[in-house]
Amino acid sequence: MSFGYNYNFIFKILVVFILSYSSFNNIFADSFLEIDFTRAEPHEALSAGDGTVYIDNKNSFSLPLKNIDINKKIDFFVGNSLFRRNWVAAPSIKMSSDGLGPFFNGSSCESCHINDGRGHPPGTFINNNDDTTSIVLAIGIPPQNEFQNAQISSLRLKLIPDPTYGSQINDNSIEGILPEGSIKLEYQYFPILLDNGQLVTLRKPNYTIENLNYGPLHSEIRISARVAQPMIGLGLIEQIDISDVIANESKQNIHLSSISGKVSHVWDDRLNKKSYGLFGWKASQPSIINQTVDALHHDMGLSSSLYPNGNNCSEKQHKCKSMETGNSPNQNNVEVSDEQINLIIFYQKHLSVPARRNVDGLNILSGKKIFFESGCASCHVQKYKTKFNANDKSVSEQLIWPYSDFLLHDMGEGLADDLSEYTASGREWRTTPLWGIGLTEAVNGHTALLHDGRARNILEAILWHGGESKSSRDKIIKLSIKEISQLVDFIESL
Ligand code: HEC
Ligand code: HEC
Repeated sequence: MSFGYNYNFIFKILVVFILSYSSFNNIFADSFLEIDFTRAEPHEALSAGDGTVYIDNKNSFSLPLKNIDINKKIDFFVGNSLFRRNWVAAPSIKMSSDGLGPFFNGSSCESCHINDGRGHPPGTFINNNDDTTSIVLAIGIPPQNEFQNAQISSLRLKLIPDPTYGSQINDNSIEGILPEGSIKLEYQYFPILLDNGQLVTLRKPNYTIENLNYGPLHSEIRISARVAQPMIGLGLIEQIDISDVIANESKQNIHLSSISGKVSHVWDDRLNKKSYGLFGWKASQPSIINQTVDALHHDMGLSSSLYPNGNNCSEKQHKCKSMETGNSPNQNNVEVSDEQINLIIFYQKHLSVPARRNVDGLNILSGKKIFFESGCASCHVQKYKTKFNANDKSVSEQLIWPYSDFLLHDMGEGLADDLSEYTASGREWRTTPLWGIGLTEAVNGHTALLHDGRARNILEAILWHGGESKSSRDKIIKLSIKEISQLVDFIESL
């Protein structure tokens, strides 16, 4: 109907008009033609605004925001010790730290978020071939009936879990019970020839689950491997105005033909209402607190007021269900008290982001220009001003530089895992914030990037970009060796 079409068109023009004049964020994100690439922008080195820290060693991701309230520093350090605490099986004389499992992946947050940085796929380090702790295999199946379809479309469920093994494989267990299974990884290698003659070999992982101790997986099982994410700047991300993220979505839909990011819509289990997803590789968690209690339950088998069950077993895992829990009357009948959770959250919210290095370097500025000209910044959106927060000045109204639009994008068949979560399809991933990426090697001793660590360096990560980002990637394939090194130098300076 032509009237409908025109109406839609007028509406779009109106939205462009309103967006161009309203949001603060939009003033920044406008055309890169306005950026002067001969010098750094004001405050560009200060990734976390006033809270930025100057450090470039193994501890780069572990410092508190520089402007953290001095009286609260102690909470940060107590939170840190809980983040590092190794939980043990119940019963134990260490009553306040028992309750691990029966099934688990890691026994502390830190065992996966190594040095507050990222995890790695097995085999990353020589002599450590079977190290599967810091990668998690999420699993799920397509909806099997109308009821499950409705649960997914009303956002009541993130995904349909495997009937026996749930939503992730726990390859560790406490004494007296067998783990769910073990993780096996094989790579398939294939070459990519760049126009400049450089040959890059990419590796595609194939994960399988072996030694299943509780019967077969569902015949339609989907497996999605994900490494633990870096912990930096999380409190600042949470303080971004959601309307800025929604504005990113509208802008891409209006201005860009191939890029059409989507805001992630999720269910907030804690507040029992619909919300927006910001955290996780598929943006399926609305807040740091939700992600934390989820990790305690699924990754470690620890109960909290939101997941009061001290066991993380499915209905079919009878022995698991009969094991003793660490739920303690001293702690409101859970294993991790609200007070402890609040401290872990406080810690995560105040982890800083290190300052950029050499922002003014000519090479880096040239690389930055290539980054913008290749369309990378359409998704890896450079900067935001965080919302006002009267209770916490350290994250309030800060100019931050995360390099993400916090939207979901179809990244093509190559990166697809076929496992959808809430509104994210099996081909969609959240744009990864790039801040701090150049210090990955210093912090974690490797440069394994992307959701499953398949890329062994920044160039490989770029070459995996497909789907909505394919035209960006195709521009990189045409660059000279010098230009590629400038682009990589720029990303390493983040
Ligand atoms: C077994 C490894 C493992 C353990 C243990 C673990 N995590 Fe994670 N964490 C992950 C993985 C994997 C992801 C990505 C999950 C996804 O996207 O599906 C993640 C994601 C996160 C995120 C989201 C970060 C972001 O940038 O979006 C936060 C926050 C987090 N974890 C906090 C914690 C806390 C707090 C603990 C301890 C209570 C913990 N994690 C324990 C593996 C782990
Ligand atoms: C359509 C949106 C989009 C565009 C355009 C885009 N990216 Fe990405 N980028 C993503 C998403 C989504 C991921 C996460 C993919 C994954 O982990 O599977 C990502 C991941 C990355 C990573 C790995 C980050 C990490 O910590 O693992 C790097 C590096 C990166 N992008 C650089 C670039 C560069 C350079 C360009 C331009 C050539 C670019 N991206 C263009 C969306 C985009």
